[in-house]
Amino acid sequence: MHRIETRQALQEWRDQLGDHAIAFVPTMGNLHAGHLSLIQCAHRHGQAVVVSIFVNPLQFGPTEDYERYPRTLEHDLAACEAANVSAVFCPTADWLTPDIHNTTHVKPPKQLTQQFCGLARPGHFEGMATIVLKLFHLIRPDIAIFGEKDAQQLAIIRQLVSDLNLNITIIEAPVIREADGLAMSSRNQYLSPSLKSQARLLSRLLASAQSAYSQGNTQANTVLKEALESVLDAELYPDFELEYFEAVDQNSFQPCAMLSDNSRLILAARLGQTRLLDTAMIGDPLFLHPDLAQLEI
Ligand code: PAF
Repeated sequence: MHRIETRQALQEWRDQLGDHAIAFVPTMGNLHAGHLSLIQCAHRHGQAVVVSIFVNPLQFGPTEDYERYPRTLEHDLAACEAANVSAVFCPTADWLTPDIHNTTHVKPPKQLTQQFCGLARPGHFEGMATIVLKLFHLIRPDIAIFGEKDAQQLAIIRQLVSDLNLNITIIEAPVIREADGLAMSSRNQYLSPSLKSQARLLSRLLASAQSAYSQGNTQANTVLKEALESVLDAELYPDFELEYFEAVDQNSFQPCAMLSDNSRLILAARLGQTRLLDTAMIGDPLFLHPDLAQLEI
């Protein structure tokens, strides 16, 4: 496996691959089973798999966790090697993003960025789209794999690729969950045992809305409200602060009043200082273990 840190080394590696289909997995490191599933997905679609590891300062707000974001490069390199990755691109911020306040930014359309996570994290999606476009130019992949969990990010990347006529196929890889239903995320490790127990409520809310839909309920407001009433108990979840819980059209990412199999549930919640996301298609049940229906904190 090649460990690549400079632009020149990346270009040399890339040039010698010729016509091989390159599948790219962008990450911020601290790799867990969710990332490994993206890498497996990349192997199914490409002949050479490249992973980038870069904690992107452009996508963190001034009060966010950029400094304390977990950086575990040696562990990540070993995980990539074991997963048969061809190359890991791990640039340093001093050359990839030298002056974050004085740089060209990609501005995705407002209708995709000014709601949901974009409201809570102003500038986040600009910073994310900017670095992804830079990585696309440097790596020149044929295919890029993004996790479904960051559903708004994925919608923005699809739009970016289409609007800027990039010749890259975007593939969505499903959310990977811990045994208790919690979607895997590098930020889960910030959670104390009590907050982690309460975080399971995210997947319970999704499952509850899916169950209402499967019983023939198609009014989004009613389904979301009933899901909240049935599982959100302030006494059991004192630290669970719901930021949004919505149903959006899978293609346009705009809220939908009437649910169909094309509707995606999205939610974000804060548990103490930690902000977590989850998502599922409304008609694609999560099959959480029945013992987890009644959570004990
Ligand atoms: O999803 C992430 O880890 C990041 O937003 C990404 C796509 C690697 C860009 O920094």
